[in-house]
Amino acid sequence: MPHDNRVHPLGPPAGFEDAISNGPVRMRWPNGVEGWIFSSYAGVRKVLSDKRFSANRDGAPAMRTEGEPVLDSSQPGNMNAMDGEEHLRLRRPLSRGFMVKRMAEMRPRIQQIVDEHLDAMERQGAPADLVASLCLPVPSLVIADLLGVPPEHQELFQATAKQMLGKNGSKVEYEALAAQLGEVIAKVVAEKKASGDTSDMIGLMVNETDFDQEELMLLAIGLLVAGHETTSNFFGLFTLTLFERPDQLEILQRDPSRADVIVEELMRYTIGRLGGAGIQRKALEDVEVDGVTVKAGEWAVISLHANLDEELCPHAGELDLERKAVSHLGFGFGPHQCLGANLARTELQILLQSLFTRFPNIRPAVPVTEMTFREDMITYGASAIPVVW
Ligand code: HEM
Repeated sequence: MPHDNRVHPLGPPAGFEDAISNGPVRMRWPNGVEGWIFSSYAGVRKVLSDKRFSANRDGAPAMRTEGEPVLDSSQPGNMNAMDGEEHLRLRRPLSRGFMVKRMAEMRPRIQQIVDEHLDAMERQGAPADLVASLCLPVPSLVIADLLGVPPEHQELFQATAKQMLGKNGSKVEYEALAAQLGEVIAKVVAEKKASGDTSDMIGLMVNETDFDQEELMLLAIGLLVAGHETTSNFFGLFTLTLFERPDQLEILQRDPSRADVIVEELMRYTIGRLGGAGIQRKALEDVEVDGVTVKAGEWAVISLHANLDEELCPHAGELDLERKAVSHLGFGFGPHQCLGANLARTELQILLQSLFTRFPNIRPAVPVTEMTFREDMITYGASAIPVVW
């Protein structure tokens, strides 16, 4: 089916809105596990912040079409699947590397990377593919810079991400690629140890934490993957949303200095409209959420359709780039809230400002409904966005 079972590529899976319209949905997933899907603003916040839900994914609802997950929950360094102190031990030191101040220091470098790619796109001439020219390479180079990994390994990061996040990614292929990436990272680790440098993320992990080699390796690979895959997909999705809504694009072009609040609204609306239900938690004991009981051992899966809940803001189903920023759930909520949110925000702001200022007449070369979307990944986005200007 086109667009990952979606009627419109920027909308929810077919039948999804009807299914959730009466509150939590009882589910039995293909691998036999049971639980609920929650999509209200209050319900999602409760699932993501209540300590009676665990992030450990052992036995989780199957999101892949085949094969086993490439990462075990118990793997050292798999921070996203840990709870409590074990999770904080890894997360706390890393969050220093993503502080707003550090991101502000990175702005000129990110701007330079974006400008270089826009120059190249202009030289190459229209039509261009925005995904290949901008969405994929920019976040990849930025995260490599933040970690301190040489940028020439971009293709290796992307191939590893494909296996890690691919719906039918193979564990064997993932392990082979992760081993190659491991060699690249091990070299950087040795250099940082020798120099004592803490100016990038690997330097910080090597010289200022008690992480062992195995933890450090998986954390670095996880950041490389998380750091480029989501941001590139969302930049593409934001652009497509704006192409569909010239009235809203005009608001950005009138005052690009408001890119910070505009990114928040695009994030709230785009993720909310897609509605995907992917983040999973397991109940450690019976917990009441939105009038139902998630029994101990059952799963709660959340839908970020919650971003369109009127409880969050008035006319939540509408995109309004003049709206003040609200506490949307696009970056999650609670202890596992996105560690890279400040970086993603900074990149998305610079990308949006720069693309639409530099190419004020940029437009899609084919209708959005004729573009191809990546149906093979857990994360969702356009495979190519042909544009002219
Ligand atoms: C538009 C871009 C992005 C979106 C929409 C996004 C979204 C999210 C969400 C919803 C979560 C919570 C998952 C959960 O509760 O289980 C999360 C966690 C995480 N994200 Fe992001 N993310 C983005 C970009 C990034 C970037 C650029 C990085 C790193 C460079 C990053 C690193 C992480 C990490 C490490 C976690 C796990 C945090 C933890 O478990 O404590 N993300 N992200």
